[in-house]
Amino acid sequence: MAADEKIDSLASRRFLFVTGKGGVGKTTVCAALALALARAGKRVLIALGGPHERLSAILGTALVGHDIQPLAERIWATRIAPELAVQEYGLMIIKVRAVARAVFESSHTRAFFRAVPGLYDWAVLGKAWYHSTELDGRGRPRFDVVVFDAPSTGHGLGMLRIPKLIGEIAAPGVLRRDADRAWQTFRDPAASGVVVVSLAEDMPATETIELVRALRGELGLPVLRLVVNAVLPPIFDQHERAALLGDGALLQPLPAAGEGSAGGRALRAAARRAAREKLQQLNVERLEREIGLPGARLPFVLGGAGSPEAARLLSESRGAKKNEPPRRQGRQDRIRFCFFLGVLGALAVHLLAWVAGEARAMRLPTQPRFALRRSRTTLRSPWGKAPATRSC
Ligand SMILES: Nc1ncnc2c1ncn2[C@@H]1O[C@H](COP(=O)(O)OP(=O)(O)OP(=O)(O)O)[C@@H](O)[C@H]1O
Ligand SMILES: [Mg+2]
Repeated sequence: MAADEKIDSLASRRFLFVTGKGGVGKTTVCAALALALARAGKRVLIALGGPHERLSAILGTALVGHDIQPLAERIWATRIAPELAVQEYGLMIIKVRAVARAVFESSHTRAFFRAVPGLYDWAVLGKAWYHSTELDGRGRPRFDVVVFDAPSTGHGLGMLRIPKLIGEIAAPGVLRRDADRAWQTFRDPAASGVVVVSLAEDMPATETIELVRALRGELGLPVLRLVVNAVLPPIFDQHERAALLGDGALLQPLPAAGEGSAGGRALRAAARRAAREKLQQLNVERLEREIGLPGARLPFVLGGAGSPEAARLLSESRGAKKNEPPRRQGRQDRIRFCFFLGVLGALAVHLLAWVAGEARAMRLPTQPRFALRRSRTTLRSPWGKAPATRSC
């Protein structure tokens, strides 16, 4: 599937919840996703829900704060601060700013709010969801898509449980009304969905599979996309990999620096890389099988993914090929094409020789005739018109 088709299927959603194990590349994927959506003409808000702010480093912008700020063409961002979000929510309910400030800026109420389980999580998620419902001055949605950079697995899952819980236990009122509306959006696969990010490694893959089970089973939420991040582009094909892995001695620990021949060391390094590629392939297959979705593979960016160039590269990525090393494939294609041209040329020469032979045997004039005179080719027309000449 081409990158554009992949984006089209996400671009129609209003709210995308991006989660996965800590450090697997959620923020990097949010940035790449936002760039791809913006390229597709969507106005995107990246809402940061976690404690760290790496987005500005990735996109090369000023630090992202609580207030919505433009980051790039058609991309805005906010880093939702839980305490401020609670205050804003309170203001929407209490309506009188002075009273709201008195309530929410008191250290006693803050301590109380901190003790209310899930309140800050709901303030963050609810605010991100609210932005997906916001209208501009002309009554159009202010943003087409909100990409929510959620906290990692356990915390992210806990955050998603809150609106469901509020709907189940809270008394009817503003809080319950908003939580119900948000929950409806989150459960509607046409409006919203979860993008899970994983690495093609054992622990992250296991954690991702468990996360998806909980998302679908316990919460009944649509999982739209599995992103397998930082996939090493394979450099060995399956035969080469099998040959390298077939020799157990090559997988022994490397001798100390300076020991062994350079060739032997290089072979061992190749075998280790082949083992990594194999493990990666097994984990991608396990993820796809258990989750039942094709994994959108994002390549490992040598030198790090924390720069605008890397984010752009990832946003344009069409995914690493499964098993064939791409460069080698291109070379094989070229070799096949040259071979095909060679065979075709040989056939053409034989055919011409045969036609000329037949013509001589039948004593037919072999026109048009090509006569080489010094470095000029004279093309004699069979109809006796003025010859056309061409420089060689
Ligand atoms: N495709 C990639 N290729 C190379 N490095 C990557 C890639 N994706 C992410 N990284 C690197 O991995 C590290 C973690 O990435 P990122 O901050 O996006 O992860 P995260 O899941 O958001 O982390 P956290 O759970 O702390 O929020 C960063 O140093 C980033 O540059
Ligand atoms: Mg992050």
